[in-house]
Formats: sequence, structure tokens, C-alpha cells
Amino acid sequence: MNSDTLINPEVTDNQEEKLETTLRPQMLNEYIGQTKVKESMKIYIEAAKQREEALDHVLLYGPPGLGKTTLAGIIANEMGSKLKITTGPAITKPGDLAALLTELKENDILFIDEIHRISRNIEEILYPAMEDYVVDIILGKGPTAKSIRLNLPKFTLIGATTKAGTLSTPLRDRFGIVHRLELYDQNDLITIITRSAKILNVEIDQESAIEIARRSRGTPRIANRLLKRVRDYALVLGDGKINIKITKTALEKLEIDELGLDEIDRKILETMIIKYSGRPIGIETLATTIGEDLDTIEDVYEPYLIQIGFIARTPRGRVPMPAAYKHIGAEYQIEI
Ligand SMILES: Nc1ncnc2c1ncn2[C@@H]1O[C@H](COP(=O)(O)OP(=O)(O)OP(=O)(O)O)[C@@H](O)[C@H]1O
Ligand SMILES: [Mg+2]
Repeated sequence: MNSDTLINPEVTDNQEEKLETTLRPQMLNEYIGQTKVKESMKIYIEAAKQREEALDHVLLYGPPGLGKTTLAGIIANEMGSKLKITTGPAITKPGDLAALLTELKENDILFIDEIHRISRNIEEILYPAMEDYVVDIILGKGPTAKSIRLNLPKFTLIGATTKAGTLSTPLRDRFGIVHRLELYDQNDLITIITRSAKILNVEIDQESAIEIARRSRGTPRIANRLLKRVRDYALVLGDGKINIKITKTALEKLEIDELGLDEIDRKILETMIIKYSGRPIGIETLATTIGEDLDTIEDVYEPYLIQIGFIARTPRGRVPMPAAYKHIGAEYQIEI
């Protein structure tokens, strides 16, 4: 695995999926960080349970690897509901969605990952389903086609997306509960790493946990991935226990710098600072200049560079901040 895939917060293979399942918290009190989201979800869940009603529809958005799928599972566990999982791209025909909906039972939870990738004509089936718990099914074709309306049980839809901005307004408005997941701070990541190490049955000292946390880009998935790599090094180079020396060696070999930045981050910063002399730059221009996918830059790279104060968004475009100059060893100056 090169550093590119290490830092990419998307799930990369089967083995990783298995690891994620083992490490995934099951209940709200095991879900680390995201205090605001947790506190309000606790209240909504408690209220729905007291009223013996289905929970309101929930939309979770934010960069990949921050725990949207995990949270959907937790909500189902806390509600004591059955969770059905699908993804936007898997729903290719209106009939697919209608079938999913009509199979639901009272209080079931339907989780649609990447919900922004449902096409508009299919999306329209969701509107009455979410609002009035009905689905209209068209039988036959042409002038003799008939539409019948089926009642659905009270269910909860949980939608997850990395791109809330591309969701249509009518769809977004039908979610009663909308939460944005934020990048995790250092302390939360340390707790996550320590928790994961315990589950994986590997000893890790505090200093190493801090070191891994620092390079995890605010993302639990990356933290778990780095932990696993360091664990391998500890096994081969040492006695299996993770200490700071092994951690540093491993992370160095993985070519992740002390802030978790990789080659693409550095390209972004150099383009902004050297090529554009720190002038505001649009995300499209940036993507074209470095030859990287716009979505990847926007969803994966930029949020972290903003979190660590390297980039700021202004109405005229993105600008590099003094800390970024320092990091790449350039002198901070702005052309007027
Ligand atoms: N709050 C948390 N506490 C502890 N571990 C977490 C937390 N959030 C996420 N994780 C860990 O990070 C991994 C990735 O989380 P998850 O798959 O839920 O992310 P996601 O937001 O659904 O990502 P994607 O957008 O790629 O679908 C999980 O396996 C879990 O172990
Ligand atoms: Mg997910």
C-alpha cells in the first residue's frame, strides 16, 4: 500500500472492511467525539422511543471516514430497529426503490449511503414516502397505465453523503434531522486509537497514540489504518508492542509527514504559494493545475488543510495561510 491509498479515506479493500466491522462502535456511548451530534441524537432517539414512534429521517454528511455508516448502525441499535443498507448507485430504477420501501416493516431503518447519487426521477419516489409514508406504483405502460398508491409502515430513512451541496432542496428539506460530521480533534483520535488497539489486542503507549493521531488527518478511518500498519511493524521489528521508536520508523516508511500530509497536499500548497503567489484561486483551477480529481480535492484534501489552518476560504477563492508557507519553507508575502 503506498501513501496515496493510506491517506485516501475511502475504504480500499475487503480486508479493511472486515477491520472496520470489528472496530465499529455499536452504541452511542462508544462513539467517540462529535459531541453535538451525539447529544442531539440521544434526545431524538429517546423521544421517539418514549412516543413509540419511528425516528424522524436523518441526513448525515461530511468527509469520508468520519463515521456516517457507523452512526447509522448505532442509531438502529439504540432504537432497537432493523437496519437495511443500500447505496445511491445501487438504485438504478424507480422499481428498485419502490421494492425496498414496500419491504420495510414498522420502525425499520433504511440506510441509503451516497444518497446524492440517486437520480432525480427516482428521488421523486422518496418525497411522498418520507412525507406521507406512501408509494405510488405505476402498473402497465402508455395510455392504459394505472397508478396505485400503497401505504408504507412508519419507517426512518437515514441518508449519508459526502456532498450535501449536491442534494436537491426538496430532498434535503424532507430530513427532519440533519447533521454535519466534523473532522476529529487530536484528543478524540487518541481515544479512538487507544480503543482500537485494545480491540486488536495490541499494547500501545501514549506517545505513540499521540504520534499516530497527529498524522491521521482528523479521520478515524485513517487512524485505524495507520494503527494497523504500525502494529505490523511492531510485530516484525519488535516484540509486538507499539512504542514511539517503532511508530516513527513505520510512519516514516509510509511517507506520511508529521502532519499527515502526502504528496498531493504538498502539490496543492506549492501550486497556491509558488505558482499563484498566494493569490486567491478557485478549486477548479487548482484541480486542473495539479491534475487531480476535483471531488477528491474538495472532499478529502481541502477539509483537512482548512482544519490545520493551511488554507482559508475567501469569497474570491482559496488562499494559503502563513502556516502553509512555513511548512513548505517559503517566505510569507502577499502581492498587492
Ligand atoms: N466516533 C467514532 N468513534 C470510534 N470509531 C469511529 C468513530 N467514527 C468512525 N470510527 C471508525 O472509523 C471507521 C470508518 O467509519 P465509517 O465507515 O462509519 O465512516 P463513513 O463516514 O461512513 O465513511 P464513508 O463516507 O467512506 O462511507 C469505522 O470502522 C470506525 O471503526
Ligand atoms: Mg460509510
